Formats: sequence, structure tokens, C-alpha cells
Amino acid sequence: MADRDTLLKILDLARWAPSGDNTQPWRFEIVSDTHIAIHGHDTRDWCVYDFRGHASHIAHGALLETLRIAASGVGLAASWRLRDGTDDLAPIYDVTLAPAAQVAADPLLPYIESRSVQRRPMKTRPLTAEQKLALERAVGDQFVLQFFEPLARRRQVARLLWDSAYLRLSCREAFEVHRRVIEWGARFSDDKIPAQAVGVDAVTEKLMRWVMHSWERVAFFNKYLAGTIAPRVQLDVLPALGCAAHVLMKPVRVPSGFLDYVHAGLAMQRLWLAASAAGLHLQPEMTPVIFRWYARNRAPISADPRINVASERLAQQFEAVCGDSPDAPYAFFCRVGVAPVPASRSLRLKLETLLRSA
Ligand SMILES: Cc1cc2nc3c(=O)[nH]c(=O)nc-3n(C[C@H](O)[C@H](O)[C@H](O)COP(=O)(O)O)c2cc1C
Repeated sequence: MADRDTLLKILDLARWAPSGDNTQPWRFEIVSDTHIAIHGHDTRDWCVYDFRGHASHIAHGALLETLRIAASGVGLAASWRLRDGTDDLAPIYDVTLAPAAQVAADPLLPYIESRSVQRRPMKTRPLTAEQKLALERAVGDQFVLQFFEPLARRRQVARLLWDSAYLRLSCREAFEVHRRVIEWGARFSDDKIPAQAVGVDAVTEKLMRWVMHSWERVAFFNKYLAGTIAPRVQLDVLPALGCAAHVLMKPVRVPSGFLDYVHAGLAMQRLWLAASAAGLHLQPEMTPVIFRWYARNRAPISADPRINVASERLAQQFEAVCGDSPDAPYAFFCRVGVAPVPASRSLRLKLETLLRSA
């Protein structure tokens, strides 16, 4: 049977799973030598991007899949189920580990720690047929991938992200989140996004830090000094053009409960790790997806009605680019391409911090 040290080793690797804004909405409990409980939470009470907890549920899925892959490295088969009586607000996932002679190390294992978000422009070299096949296989048969590859298609996505970024940067609720999740002046951060990984140049970073001191500064800067232009060009337009492809992951069935988002997270993490294995970097582009979740559920993003009206237009624009109807479900949107390893990245909370006793 596995001993506690083996389980600690598995969890130490699993904690490298990605989460929105590096929030790591999970705590670990070692219940026995064959049983780990993952206590999930979400950030919907303060994070506008965590619509109904979906982004956190996707992260839970990424963690569970990473744990399974990590366990395969020590010959253990991991399977999980939601604990009875727990729900989307505080889900507990019971993971059972069993030795299995036929468990081979998952080919994605070597990429768990090196996988990282790349927010800077990438090479535009087109994806090869093998790379696309590897990405499609990674997500399994419950998801389909739509690729946006030629320059004209990447331009349409760049336009979508440009419009989406205007909403993001002129929405007070999003400003409060950005202020909380960026670690200024940092190259690495245990539980936030270090400013150098955000993807702007050093001068813009300094300016952003100054402007983001207060919402009043942001509003003034946006209104009179075209303050959204530099970040939108650097964070949205140039990266949107500078990639091999944008990839939209669509569930084949409309999600009917929060576990469907957890399953989307399993597929997302396999997609991301498969991209790493294929020599590609990836950046999620979730804001248009999230704003569309709000619009299609007729839920307000902001106390400012202009933002809510704009989110409806953005959802229509997104659907027009994809050729879809308003009821088509979208789970994950990202761009991929060849790029250098990012010089700055998010790290993780220490395992001791993530472990809780029963
Ligand atoms: C559900 C989800 C949504 C995310 N959305 C975005 C996004 O819209 N833009 C972005 O740049 N990064 C996004 N990220 C990336 C996270 O910020 C990143 O994974 C986290 O900070 C940890 O960094 P790492 O992936 O480099 O380890 C998202 C990640 C997840 C899991």
C-alpha cells in the first residue's frame, strides 16, 4: 500500500494544476493510505470572473486530473467521486488510490510542473497535423475543438478580445479583482499572478501600478487619456495575432450541473499538458467565455448597466465568429503556439499550507 510520504509526493506534484488567477481553490486532507479528500471552494463572492463558481470548478477538474497523472507515476490508479451531501459551494472530492499492476506512468506526467501560462506573443508557425490531433485526442469525446488559424480568423479573435478587454478594463468589479490578484514588482508569486507574467512591458507595468491605486484614477485615465489602449494592444491584440491558433473547447452536451465544469477542467488540463508535450505554449482567454456565461444566463456582471448591455453584444459577436447559436456551450478558450519559456510565472502555496487535518 502507499505510505504517507508517497501521498505527499503525489500532492506535491498535483498542486501545480492551474487555477484562474492562481487562486488554488482547494485544500488537501490525507484520510488514510488509500484515501485523499480534496476540499474545494470557489471565489464567486469576490471574483467577477468566477461566474457561479464555474472557473473554480474547472480548476478542481484540473487538479483531480493532475493528481491522477501524478499517481500514475508511482504505479497507483486514482479515481474520484463527489462526496454525498456536498455541493457546488463546498464540494469534497474523495480520491481513492489503488496499486494496479497495469498502471503505466501517464505520458503527460513530465509536463505537470513545466506547464505554465505564456501571455506574450508567440510564433505564428502553423500547427502541424500531429499537434492538432494530439490536442483533439487530449480532450476526449465529450468535447470538440474549434481552431482559428489563418490570419483572417486570428484577426476576428483579436477584435473580439479587444472588445472584451474594454469591458474588463472599464468594469469596476473587475478592477477590484485585478488589484487583488496581481503581485506588483514580482517575477514569481505563490498565490497571485506576478506582475512580470501579466504580459505588458516594464513602462506600462509601472503606469498600471500607479493608475490602479484607485478606481477614480482608472476611470479618469480611461476617459481622458485613452488608458485602455496600451494594455489592450499589449495584452490582447498583439498576443491574439501572435500565435499559431486560438482553440475553443466546446462540450458536446449543454452542461447541466457543476460537475460538468469539473469534467471540463479534466479535459482542459489534458489539453494544456498535451500542448506542452507537443512543444507548444498556451494562454487561456477566458474573459469572453465568462462574459458570455453572464449574458446567456441574463445575469448582470456589473452595477454599471452599460457593461451588461455590452456583454450581450460581445456574446453575439463571439457566436458570429464561431458560427454558433446562443445556446451553444463554450467551456474553455485559449491560444497556442511556439514560444520561449516565460521568464516569470506563478508558483504555488507550499504543500504544508494546502494540507488540512481532518
Ligand atoms: C479556469 C481558468 C481560467 C483562466 N483564465 C485566464 C485568462 O483568461 N487569461 C490568462 O491570461 N490566464 C488565465 N488563466 C491562467 C491562470 O492565471 C494561471 O493558470 C495561474 O495563474 C497559474 O499560473 P501557471 O498556469 O503559469 O502555473 C486561467 C486558468 C484557469 C484554470
